Amino acid sequence: MSERKKVSLPYLFKKVAKDEPITMLTCYDYPTAHFQEQAEIDMILVGDSLGMTMLGYESTLPVTMDDMVRHSKAVRIGSPNAWLIGDMPYMSYQPSVETAILNAGRLMAEAGCDAVKLEGGAEMADRMAGIVASGIPAMGHLGLTPQSVSALGGFRLQGKGALQAKKIVDDAKALEQAGAFSILLELVPDRLCKLISERVENCFIISLGSGPDAHGQLLIYHDAFGLYPRFKPRMAKVFADAGKIIQDGLKQYAHEVTQRKFPQPENWFGMPDDEYEELLRILD
Ligand code: KIV
Repeated sequence: MSERKKVSLPYLFKKVAKDEPITMLTCYDYPTAHFQEQAEIDMILVGDSLGMTMLGYESTLPVTMDDMVRHSKAVRIGSPNAWLIGDMPYMSYQPSVETAILNAGRLMAEAGCDAVKLEGGAEMADRMAGIVASGIPAMGHLGLTPQSVSALGGFRLQGKGALQAKKIVDDAKALEQAGAFSILLELVPDRLCKLISERVENCFIISLGSGPDAHGQLLIYHDAFGLYPRFKPRMAKVFADAGKIIQDGLKQYAHEVTQRKFPQPENWFGMPDDEYEELLRILD
């Protein structure tokens, strides 16, 4: 069992100062959170990607606050010590600063999160500032922001051209000034990620498919362990093909039941002869 101390913001900033990369994965359920706790993953994101990875939706848009609270709670139980970030789902913060604060508060109070994450740049800086002013650590998310996938024209690289890249640099500055403790850069060119990572002073940068020069790395758990059947994005490396192992196991299970090879005596419980005789007598 892991016996590490609870991960805190000072601990994370100390890692950044020592140039030690921060480890981060998404997670949505208790048993996986237990495994991630044992692996001493620094930060866990309960992403609204759970709409796609766990619930089979085509996008993250239908995910609700109740979904996020339920899954974050389960992850908190499985991983008491990781720095747990609850993702704010679509329309849980966009309408107003007050909506953003109330919903961020739910993830903290009801699910036991340590922080929240919201998508968007300068246009969301007032939501970020309001959440942070309420005493809730918050992470920004720039580049490919899945809640805006329709406006962005699909799941594609962002900030390839100089003008679009400049906007991402300005957005990062706005989020840092609003008090974000960290910013996730998803699917932007490696040089842009490096440049922003070198320029921030009061927050640290996490890369998802944005190259090696951020302060830490994030992967979607289902992509990294072969558990998402629809596609595998190029940015993800499969560290272990759990999906294949499970599928082989399922076929074996079906085979053994069909062939009457399962269960075996070690898989069931008997009844003493005298009790069984008594049962038959009572039934007669
Ligand atoms: O929901 C999520 O998992 C995310 C990642 C794509 C970063 O926001």
